[in-house]
Amino acid sequence: MERLLLGSRVILCTLSMLSNNKISTITQIVPVQTIIFDEASQIEIGDYLPAIHLFGSSLRKMVFIGDDKQLAPYGHSDIPQLESVFEKQHLRPKIHFLDTQYRMPKPIGDFISEHVYNKKLKTNHSILLKTCCRFVNVLGGQEEQRCKSWINEKEIQAVVKIAKILQARRKSFRMITPYDAQRSAIEKALKDAKLPWEDKCFNVDSFQGTSCTVITLKRSSHMAGNEDDYIIVSIVRSKKLGFLVNERRVNVMLTRCRKGMIICSSRAFLDGIASESLIGGLAARMGRRSWVEYEQVLNGNFPMI
Ligand SMILES: *[C@@H]1O[C@H](CO)[C@@H](O)[C@H](O)[C@H]1NC(C)=O
Repeated sequence: MERLLLGSRVILCTLSMLSNNKISTITQIVPVQTIIFDEASQIEIGDYLPAIHLFGSSLRKMVFIGDDKQLAPYGHSDIPQLESVFEKQHLRPKIHFLDTQYRMPKPIGDFISEHVYNKKLKTNHSILLKTCCRFVNVLGGQEEQRCKSWINEKEIQAVVKIAKILQARRKSFRMITPYDAQRSAIEKALKDAKLPWEDKCFNVDSFQGTSCTVITLKRSSHMAGNEDDYIIVSIVRSKKLGFLVNERRVNVMLTRCRKGMIICSSRAFLDGIASESLIGGLAARMGRRSWVEYEQVLNGNFPMI
């Protein structure tokens, strides 16, 4: 093992791997002194116990990197008592807030800062115009239940059409949607349209709302931490808020683009039932001029990008 390690002092692995007894052959040679946990807002505090138990004698420091305004520990929606380190009140004074984001264009970053981060998040980005964010008015799009998940046929067509346009303009893009049934339906539609489909469409969190017919363990349908120049969002819901009441998940969904975001929904929904939600607030902020009619998209006449 010492030969294999070639003098390495850093181990990069998942938390569960770190808790595996087999890692002790490595940690006997390189005692664990510091552990840096990424995505710590998604880790339930009990999950640290194996690591603390195994490395307690050599461990000197634990650093937790995460965002408690994004995804909570898995299962939090069913068991609200599940806590990450960020929910521990005695640790909160030790939080160091990284206050500048470099990913999203300024209009999107500023909106998110105001509504999610108490106006504390600054943006450093060269795109300053509201045209970075477009809403497509998919008239007649209806939410339909698929087992425990939801789809919206019209939005699938709209997403594929926009993907075609972006592909033709050689843009780098991905799609994101709250519901896994919609995610797999979009993937299939992309494939049928002979467009790139692998690792193109993501669900906000891969654990939620799996379709009941096939349960597959997807490699990377998980969007947190993922980004692209352009992000196409399919909202799916048209009558009820559903997933959209969860501000942390919507925050993940709306903060993935580096250059622009195209949101497929309907004006009636975002101005109506969804108007008080984060996504409705974004539509209101971007204003009337950010809306594009679906027919316009169908004609391949898509402004911006
Ligand atoms: C923005 O970031 C760049 C490099 O990442 C830096 O050079 C520049 O000073 C920053 N601008 C502001 C206003 O902070």
